[in-house]
Amino acid sequence: MENSLTKKINVVAPILRILLANETGGPMVRFVSEKTSKDAGVTAVLPKEASEEQAIESLKTAIRQQAETIETVGVEGVGIFQIIQPVIEMNKRASGKTAIVTGAAQGFGLEIAQDMAAQGACVVLADINETEAQKQAQQLNEQYGTDRAMAVAMNVTDSQSIQNAIDSVIRHYGGFDVFVSNAGVLKAESVKTQSEKDFEFVCAVNYKGYFLRTQVISKVLALQHKANHAYTSDIIQINSKSGLVGSNRNGAYAGSKFVGIGLTQSFALELIEDGIKVNSICPGNFFDGPLWSNPDNGLFVQYLRTGKIPGAKTIEDVKRAYEAKVPMRRGCTTPDVMAAVYYLIEQKYETGQALPVTDGQVMLH
Ligand SMILES: NC(=O)c1ccc[n+]([C@@H]2O[C@H](COP(=O)([O-])OP(=O)(O)OC[C@H]3O[C@@H](n4cnc5c(N)ncnc54)[C@H](O)[C@@H]3O)[C@@H](O)[C@H]2O)c1
Repeated sequence: MENSLTKKINVVAPILRILLANETGGPMVRFVSEKTSKDAGVTAVLPKEASEEQAIESLKTAIRQQAETIETVGVEGVGIFQIIQPVIEMNKRASGKTAIVTGAAQGFGLEIAQDMAAQGACVVLADINETEAQKQAQQLNEQYGTDRAMAVAMNVTDSQSIQNAIDSVIRHYGGFDVFVSNAGVLKAESVKTQSEKDFEFVCAVNYKGYFLRTQVISKVLALQHKANHAYTSDIIQINSKSGLVGSNRNGAYAGSKFVGIGLTQSFALELIEDGIKVNSICPGNFFDGPLWSNPDNGLFVQYLRTGKIPGAKTIEDVKRAYEAKVPMRRGCTTPDVMAAVYYLIEQKYETGQALPVTDGQVMLH
Protein backbone atom coordinates (compact mmCIF):
# COMPACT_ATOMS: atom_id res chain seq x y z
CA MET A 1 0.00 0.00 0.00
CA GLU A 2 1.11 3.54 -0.68
CA ASN A 3 2.16 5.30 2.51
CA SER A 4 0.79 8.74 3.28
CA LEU A 5 4.01 10.59 2.30
CA THR A 6 3.98 8.90 -1.12
CA LYS A 7 0.31 9.81 -1.53
CA LYS A 8 1.10 13.46 -0.82
CA ILE A 9 4.09 13.48 -3.21
CA ASN A 10 1.84 11.95 -5.87
CA VAL A 11 -0.53 14.91 -5.52
CA VAL A 12 1.99 17.75 -5.14
CA ALA A 13 4.59 16.86 -7.79
CA PRO A 14 2.26 16.44 -10.84
CA ILE A 15 0.43 19.67 -9.92
CA LEU A 16 3.71 21.62 -9.58
CA ARG A 17 4.97 20.19 -12.87
CA ILE A 18 1.93 21.53 -14.72
CA LEU A 19 1.69 24.86 -12.86
CA LEU A 20 5.37 25.56 -13.61
CA ALA A 21 5.16 24.49 -17.27
CA ASN A 22 5.50 26.88 -20.18
CA GLU A 23 4.68 26.46 -23.86
CA THR A 24 7.69 24.13 -24.36
CA GLY A 25 6.62 21.69 -21.63
CA GLY A 26 6.92 21.06 -17.91
CA PRO A 27 10.07 21.00 -15.74
CA MET A 28 11.27 17.92 -13.88
CA VAL A 29 9.93 18.12 -10.34
CA ARG A 30 12.13 15.96 -8.14
CA PHE A 31 11.33 15.08 -4.54
CA VAL A 32 14.64 15.60 -2.72
CA SER A 33 13.99 15.77 1.01
CA GLU A 34 11.36 15.17 3.64
CA LYS A 35 12.49 18.28 5.56
CA THR A 36 10.72 21.53 4.68
CA SER A 37 13.56 23.99 5.03
CA LYS A 38 12.93 27.71 5.25
CA ASP A 39 15.59 28.02 2.49
CA ALA A 40 13.28 26.63 -0.18
CA GLY A 41 12.55 29.28 -2.84
CA VAL A 42 8.82 28.91 -2.36
CA THR A 43 7.03 27.55 0.68
CA ALA A 44 3.48 26.29 0.45
CA VAL A 45 1.11 25.15 3.17
CA LEU A 46 -1.68 22.79 2.18
CA PRO A 47 -4.92 22.57 4.20
CA LYS A 48 -5.15 19.43 6.38
CA GLU A 49 -6.53 16.49 4.34
CA ALA A 50 -6.47 18.78 1.29
CA SER A 51 -8.52 17.75 -1.72
CA GLU A 52 -6.80 17.86 -5.12
CA GLU A 53 -8.60 21.13 -5.88
CA GLN A 54 -7.45 22.70 -2.59
CA ALA A 55 -3.87 21.52 -3.22
CA ILE A 56 -3.95 23.12 -6.69
CA GLU A 57 -5.20 26.44 -5.26
CA SER A 58 -2.63 26.49 -2.41
CA LEU A 59 0.28 25.71 -4.74
CA LYS A 60 -0.94 28.29 -7.28
CA THR A 61 -1.03 30.97 -4.57
CA ALA A 62 2.46 30.10 -3.30
CA ILE A 63 3.95 30.15 -6.81
CA ARG A 64 2.24 33.44 -7.77
CA GLN A 65 3.96 35.21 -4.88
CA GLN A 66 7.43 34.36 -6.23
CA ALA A 67 8.82 36.80 -8.79
CA GLU A 68 12.10 35.00 -9.56
CA THR A 69 12.73 31.69 -11.31
CA ILE A 70 11.68 28.92 -8.96
CA GLU A 71 14.37 26.35 -8.18
CA THR A 72 12.86 24.70 -5.11
CA VAL A 73 9.44 24.40 -3.57
CA GLY A 74 8.98 23.38 0.06
CA VAL A 75 5.59 22.03 1.05
CA GLU A 76 4.86 21.88 4.80
CA GLY A 77 4.37 18.30 5.98
CA VAL A 78 5.60 16.85 2.67
CA GLY A 79 9.13 18.04 1.84
CA ILE A 80 11.25 19.81 -0.73
CA PHE A 81 10.87 19.53 -4.49
CA GLN A 82 13.67 20.55 -6.81
CA ILE A 83 12.56 22.19 -10.06
CA ILE A 84 14.86 21.25 -12.94
CA GLN A 85 14.35 22.88 -16.34
CA PRO A 86 15.21 20.40 -19.10
CA VAL A 87 17.19 21.50 -22.14
CA ILE A 88 14.60 22.10 -24.84
CA GLU A 89 15.74 21.01 -28.28
CA MET A 90 13.82 22.91 -30.91
CA ASN A 91 12.54 21.07 -33.99
CA LYS A 92 12.44 17.74 -32.15
CA ARG A 93 9.08 16.02 -32.11
CA ALA A 94 9.02 14.97 -28.43
CA SER A 95 10.99 17.80 -26.81
CA GLY A 96 9.57 18.86 -23.44
CA LYS A 97 7.61 15.60 -23.04
CA THR A 98 8.13 12.83 -20.51
CA ALA A 99 7.10 9.38 -21.75
CA ILE A 100 6.75 6.01 -20.03
CA VAL A 101 7.15 2.97 -22.28
CA THR A 102 6.25 -0.47 -20.90
CA GLY A 103 8.07 -3.56 -22.14
CA ALA A 104 11.01 -1.30 -22.99
CA ALA A 105 13.89 -3.67 -22.23
CA GLN A 106 13.91 -4.98 -25.82
CA GLY A 107 12.02 -5.07 -29.13
CA PHE A 108 9.53 -2.39 -30.17
CA GLY A 109 9.37 -0.92 -26.63
CA LEU A 110 13.12 -0.32 -26.44
CA GLU A 111 13.26 1.21 -29.91
CA ILE A 112 10.23 3.44 -29.18
CA ALA A 113 11.97 4.70 -26.00
CA GLN A 114 15.23 5.24 -27.92
CA ASP A 115 13.48 7.17 -30.68
CA MET A 116 11.57 9.37 -28.23
CA ALA A 117 14.82 10.16 -26.38
CA ALA A 118 16.47 11.04 -29.70
CA GLN A 119 13.47 13.32 -30.34
CA GLY A 120 14.08 15.20 -27.09
CA ALA A 121 11.83 13.42 -24.56
CA CYS A 122 12.71 12.17 -21.10
CA VAL A 123 11.88 8.47 -21.14
CA VAL A 124 11.04 5.84 -18.55
CA LEU A 125 11.86 2.26 -19.51
CA ALA A 126 9.39 0.09 -17.55
CA ASP A 127 9.85 -3.67 -17.77
CA ILE A 128 9.62 -6.90 -15.80
CA ASN A 129 13.25 -7.37 -16.90
CA GLU A 130 14.63 -4.57 -14.73
CA THR A 131 18.31 -5.43 -15.28
CA GLU A 132 18.12 -4.98 -19.05
CA ALA A 133 15.91 -1.88 -18.73
CA GLN A 134 18.54 -0.34 -16.38
CA LYS A 135 21.32 -1.12 -18.85
CA GLN A 136 19.41 0.49 -21.71
CA ALA A 137 18.42 3.57 -19.66
CA GLN A 138 22.05 4.08 -18.66
CA GLN A 139 23.09 4.02 -22.32
CA LEU A 140 20.48 6.67 -23.14
CA ASN A 141 21.76 8.86 -20.30
CA GLU A 142 25.31 8.50 -21.61
CA GLN A 143 24.14 9.42 -25.10
CA TYR A 144 21.75 12.31 -24.34
CA GLY A 145 22.72 13.54 -20.85
CA THR A 146 21.91 12.67 -17.23
CA ASP A 147 18.22 12.66 -16.36
CA ARG A 148 17.03 11.85 -19.87
CA ALA A 149 16.13 8.26 -19.00
CA MET A 150 15.28 6.09 -16.02
CA ALA A 151 14.36 2.44 -15.65
CA VAL A 152 11.69 1.02 -13.36
CA ALA A 153 10.71 -2.54 -12.54
CA MET A 154 7.10 -3.10 -13.58
CA ASN A 155 5.04 -6.25 -13.92
CA VAL A 156 2.03 -5.08 -15.91
CA THR A 157 -0.16 -7.89 -14.57
CA ASP A 158 0.18 -6.64 -10.99
CA SER A 159 -1.47 -3.38 -9.85
CA GLN A 160 0.87 -2.92 -6.90
CA SER A 161 3.93 -3.32 -9.10
CA ILE A 162 2.53 -0.74 -11.55
CA GLN A 163 1.78 1.65 -8.67
CA ASN A 164 5.29 1.25 -7.19
CA ALA A 165 6.82 2.04 -10.59
CA ILE A 166 4.64 5.12 -11.03
CA ASP A 167 5.54 6.29 -7.48
CA SER A 168 9.24 6.15 -8.49
CA VAL A 169 8.59 8.04 -11.73
CA ILE A 170 6.75 10.80 -9.86
CA ARG A 171 9.56 11.15 -7.29
CA HIS A 172 12.09 11.45 -10.12
CA TYR A 173 10.31 13.41 -12.90
CA GLY A 174 7.16 14.72 -11.17
CA GLY A 175 4.80 13.17 -13.73
CA PHE A 176 4.60 12.25 -17.42
CA ASP A 177 2.72 13.19 -20.60
CA VAL A 178 2.74 10.07 -22.78
CA PHE A 179 2.16 6.47 -21.72
CA VAL A 180 3.04 3.86 -24.32
CA SER A 181 1.31 0.63 -23.30
CA ASN A 182 3.60 -1.69 -25.26
CA ALA A 183 4.37 -4.74 -23.06
CA GLY A 184 2.80 -7.76 -24.70
CA VAL A 185 3.39 -11.50 -25.08
CA LEU A 186 2.56 -14.13 -27.68
CA LYS A 187 2.03 -17.87 -27.35
CA ALA A 188 0.86 -19.16 -30.71
CA GLU A 189 -0.90 -22.51 -30.65
CA SER A 190 -3.98 -24.28 -31.98
CA VAL A 191 -7.20 -23.88 -30.01
CA LYS A 192 -7.33 -27.68 -30.02
CA THR A 193 -4.15 -28.03 -27.96
CA GLN A 194 -3.34 -24.74 -26.18
CA SER A 195 -3.32 -25.03 -22.40
CA GLU A 196 -5.60 -22.88 -20.26
CA LYS A 197 -2.45 -21.68 -18.45
CA ASP A 198 -0.94 -20.29 -21.68
CA PHE A 199 -4.25 -18.68 -22.66
CA GLU A 200 -4.48 -16.99 -19.28
CA PHE A 201 -0.84 -15.85 -19.44
CA VAL A 202 -1.41 -14.09 -22.79
CA CYS A 203 -4.67 -12.49 -21.59
CA ALA A 204 -3.10 -11.39 -18.29
CA VAL A 205 -0.37 -9.34 -20.00
CA ASN A 206 -2.14 -8.15 -23.16
CA TYR A 207 -5.69 -7.58 -21.87
CA LYS A 208 -5.83 -7.37 -18.07
CA GLY A 209 -2.42 -5.67 -18.02
CA TYR A 210 -3.62 -2.88 -20.33
CA PHE A 211 -6.66 -2.34 -18.05
CA LEU A 212 -4.53 -2.24 -14.88
CA ARG A 213 -1.89 0.08 -16.37
CA THR A 214 -4.58 2.51 -17.51
CA GLN A 215 -6.33 2.36 -14.14
CA VAL A 216 -3.17 3.45 -12.27
CA ILE A 217 -1.72 5.98 -14.69
CA SER A 218 -4.94 7.74 -15.72
CA LYS A 219 -5.23 9.14 -12.17
CA VAL A 220 -1.93 11.02 -12.60
CA LEU A 221 -2.81 12.29 -16.08
CA ALA A 222 -6.26 13.40 -14.86
CA LEU A 223 -4.73 15.32 -11.95
CA GLN A 224 -2.37 17.11 -14.33
CA HIS A 225 -5.37 18.13 -16.45
CA LYS A 226 -7.13 19.40 -13.32
CA ALA A 227 -4.15 21.69 -12.64
CA ASN A 228 -4.51 23.21 -16.13
CA HIS A 229 -7.55 22.42 -18.29
CA ALA A 230 -5.63 23.30 -21.46
CA TYR A 231 -3.16 20.45 -20.75
CA THR A 232 -3.76 17.15 -22.58
CA SER A 233 -1.93 13.82 -22.51
CA ASP A 234 -1.75 10.56 -24.46
CA ILE A 235 -2.14 6.87 -23.83
CA ILE A 236 -0.95 4.88 -26.84
CA GLN A 237 -1.43 1.12 -26.82
CA ILE A 238 0.79 -0.92 -29.11
CA ASN A 239 -1.78 -3.37 -30.40
CA SER A 240 -1.21 -5.49 -33.55
CA LYS A 241 -2.63 -6.26 -36.97
CA SER A 242 -3.88 -9.37 -35.11
CA GLY A 243 -6.19 -7.02 -33.20
CA LEU A 244 -7.98 -6.28 -36.50
CA VAL A 245 -8.17 -9.68 -38.21
CA GLY A 246 -8.02 -13.24 -36.87
CA SER A 247 -4.69 -15.05 -36.73
CA ASN A 248 -4.55 -18.74 -37.65
CA ARG A 249 -3.47 -21.00 -34.74
CA ASN A 250 -2.90 -17.87 -32.69
CA GLY A 251 -6.34 -17.27 -31.18
CA ALA A 252 -5.23 -16.39 -27.65
CA TYR A 253 -3.03 -13.58 -28.95
CA ALA A 254 -5.48 -12.24 -31.55
CA GLY A 255 -8.34 -12.38 -29.01
CA SER A 256 -6.28 -10.51 -26.41
CA LYS A 257 -5.50 -7.81 -28.99
CA PHE A 258 -9.12 -7.50 -30.25
CA VAL A 259 -10.33 -6.84 -26.69
CA GLY A 260 -7.50 -4.33 -26.29
CA ILE A 261 -9.21 -2.24 -28.97
CA GLY A 262 -12.45 -2.55 -27.00
CA LEU A 263 -10.62 -1.10 -24.01
CA THR A 264 -9.08 1.69 -26.11
CA GLN A 265 -12.47 2.75 -27.46
CA SER A 266 -14.09 2.63 -24.00
CA PHE A 267 -11.21 4.41 -22.21
CA ALA A 268 -11.24 7.09 -24.94
CA LEU A 269 -14.93 7.82 -24.29
CA GLU A 270 -14.42 7.97 -20.54
CA LEU A 271 -11.07 9.73 -20.19
CA ILE A 272 -11.64 12.56 -22.66
CA GLU A 273 -13.11 14.56 -19.75
CA ASP A 274 -9.66 14.30 -18.14
CA GLY A 275 -7.92 15.58 -21.27
CA ILE A 276 -6.53 12.12 -22.04
CA LYS A 277 -6.52 10.84 -25.63
CA VAL A 278 -6.40 7.04 -25.93
CA ASN A 279 -5.44 5.36 -29.19
CA SER A 280 -4.00 2.04 -30.39
CA ILE A 281 -1.41 1.41 -33.08
CA CYS A 282 -1.71 -1.88 -34.95
CA PRO A 283 1.68 -2.73 -36.47
CA GLY A 284 2.39 -5.49 -38.94
CA ASN A 285 5.05 -8.10 -38.23
CA PHE A 286 8.32 -6.72 -36.85
CA PHE A 287 10.61 -9.32 -38.47
CA ASP A 288 13.83 -7.62 -37.31
CA GLY A 289 12.82 -7.70 -33.61
CA PRO A 290 13.77 -10.49 -31.18
CA LEU A 291 10.27 -11.99 -31.14
CA TRP A 292 10.77 -13.12 -34.76
CA SER A 293 14.54 -13.12 -35.23
CA ASN A 294 15.95 -14.48 -31.95
CA PRO A 295 18.21 -17.31 -33.26
CA ASP A 296 17.30 -19.67 -30.38
CA ASN A 297 13.56 -19.27 -29.90
CA GLY A 298 12.35 -16.61 -32.39
CA LEU A 299 9.21 -17.31 -34.43
CA PHE A 300 11.22 -17.93 -37.64
CA VAL A 301 13.15 -20.77 -35.95
CA GLN A 302 9.99 -22.11 -34.31
CA TYR A 303 8.02 -22.08 -37.59
CA LEU A 304 10.92 -23.78 -39.42
CA ARG A 305 11.09 -26.52 -36.74
CA THR A 306 7.33 -27.11 -36.69
CA GLY A 307 7.03 -27.09 -40.51
CA LYS A 308 4.44 -24.29 -40.46
CA ILE A 309 5.53 -23.17 -43.96
CA PRO A 310 5.33 -26.19 -46.29
CA GLY A 311 8.60 -26.74 -48.19
CA ALA A 312 10.63 -24.19 -46.15
CA LYS A 313 14.17 -25.48 -45.53
CA THR A 314 15.84 -22.42 -44.02
CA ILE A 315 14.95 -19.45 -41.87
CA GLU A 316 15.23 -17.29 -45.00
CA ASP A 317 12.54 -19.45 -46.67
CA VAL A 318 10.20 -18.88 -43.72
CA LYS A 319 10.96 -15.15 -43.73
CA ARG A 320 10.32 -14.84 -47.47
CA ALA A 321 6.97 -16.63 -47.08
CA TYR A 322 5.88 -14.07 -44.47
CA GLU A 323 7.23 -11.10 -46.45
CA ALA A 324 5.21 -12.29 -49.47
CA LYS A 325 2.00 -11.63 -47.49
CA VAL A 326 2.84 -7.89 -47.33
CA PRO A 327 2.12 -5.69 -50.38
CA MET A 328 5.51 -3.94 -49.96
CA ARG A 329 7.26 -7.25 -49.30
CA ARG A 330 8.88 -6.18 -46.06
CA GLY A 331 8.17 -6.25 -42.35
CA CYS A 332 7.09 -3.35 -40.17
CA THR A 333 9.96 -1.35 -38.61
CA THR A 334 10.18 0.99 -35.65
CA PRO A 335 10.38 4.14 -37.85
CA ASP A 336 7.05 3.04 -39.39
CA VAL A 337 5.54 2.79 -35.89
CA MET A 338 7.10 6.08 -34.73
CA ALA A 339 5.42 7.98 -37.57
CA ALA A 340 2.12 6.78 -36.06
CA VAL A 341 3.20 7.58 -32.46
CA TYR A 342 4.07 11.21 -33.31
CA TYR A 343 0.96 11.60 -35.45
CA LEU A 344 -1.25 10.52 -32.53
CA ILE A 345 0.52 12.85 -30.08
CA GLU A 346 0.40 15.84 -32.45
CA GLN A 347 -3.16 15.20 -33.68
CA LYS A 348 -5.30 16.83 -30.99
CA TYR A 349 -8.59 15.96 -32.73
CA GLU A 350 -8.54 12.16 -32.53
CA THR A 351 -9.17 9.58 -29.84
CA GLY A 352 -10.37 5.98 -29.60
CA GLN A 353 -8.81 4.91 -32.89
CA ALA A 354 -6.92 1.77 -33.87
CA LEU A 355 -4.39 2.92 -36.43
CA PRO A 356 -3.01 0.20 -38.73
CA VAL A 357 0.69 0.34 -39.72
CA THR A 358 0.68 -2.74 -41.94
CA ASP A 359 1.43 -1.53 -45.47
CA GLY A 360 -2.07 -2.56 -46.53
CA GLN A 361 -1.74 -6.13 -45.25
CA VAL A 362 -4.81 -5.30 -43.17
CA MET A 363 -7.26 -2.71 -44.47
CA LEU A 364 -10.00 -1.05 -42.44
CA HIS A 365 -13.60 -1.25 -43.59
N1 LIG B 1 6.97 -8.36 -32.91
C1 LIG B 1 5.95 -8.19 -33.76
O1 LIG B 1 5.96 -8.67 -34.91
C2 LIG B 1 4.76 -7.37 -33.32
C3 LIG B 1 3.83 -7.00 -34.30
C4 LIG B 1 2.72 -6.24 -33.92
C5 LIG B 1 2.56 -5.87 -32.59
N2 LIG B 1 3.48 -6.27 -31.66
C6 LIG B 1 3.24 -5.85 -30.28
O2 LIG B 1 4.30 -5.00 -29.89
C7 LIG B 1 4.54 -5.14 -28.49
C8 LIG B 1 6.00 -5.45 -28.27
O3 LIG B 1 6.32 -6.63 -28.97
P1 LIG B 1 7.82 -7.09 -29.21
O4 LIG B 1 7.86 -7.93 -30.41
O5 LIG B 1 8.73 -5.94 -29.12
O6 LIG B 1 8.01 -8.06 -27.94
P2 LIG B 1 9.32 -8.58 -27.23
O7 LIG B 1 9.01 -9.97 -26.76
O8 LIG B 1 10.55 -8.39 -28.06
O9 LIG B 1 9.45 -7.61 -25.95
C9 LIG B 1 8.43 -7.56 -24.98
C10 LIG B 1 8.96 -6.86 -23.73
O10 LIG B 1 7.88 -6.87 -22.77
C11 LIG B 1 8.39 -7.27 -21.51
N3 LIG B 1 7.33 -7.92 -20.73
C12 LIG B 1 6.79 -9.15 -20.91
N4 LIG B 1 5.89 -9.39 -19.94
C13 LIG B 1 5.86 -8.30 -19.13
C14 LIG B 1 5.15 -7.96 -17.97
N5 LIG B 1 4.27 -8.79 -17.39
N6 LIG B 1 5.36 -6.75 -17.40
C15 LIG B 1 6.26 -5.89 -17.95
N7 LIG B 1 6.98 -6.17 -19.04
C16 LIG B 1 6.78 -7.35 -19.63
C17 LIG B 1 9.54 -8.24 -21.84
O11 LIG B 1 10.44 -8.37 -20.76
C18 LIG B 1 10.15 -7.59 -23.08
O12 LIG B 1 11.14 -6.64 -22.73
C19 LIG B 1 3.59 -6.24 -28.00
O13 LIG B 1 2.43 -5.67 -27.44
C20 LIG B 1 3.24 -6.99 -29.27
O14 LIG B 1 2.01 -7.63 -29.19
C21 LIG B 1 4.57 -6.99 -32.00
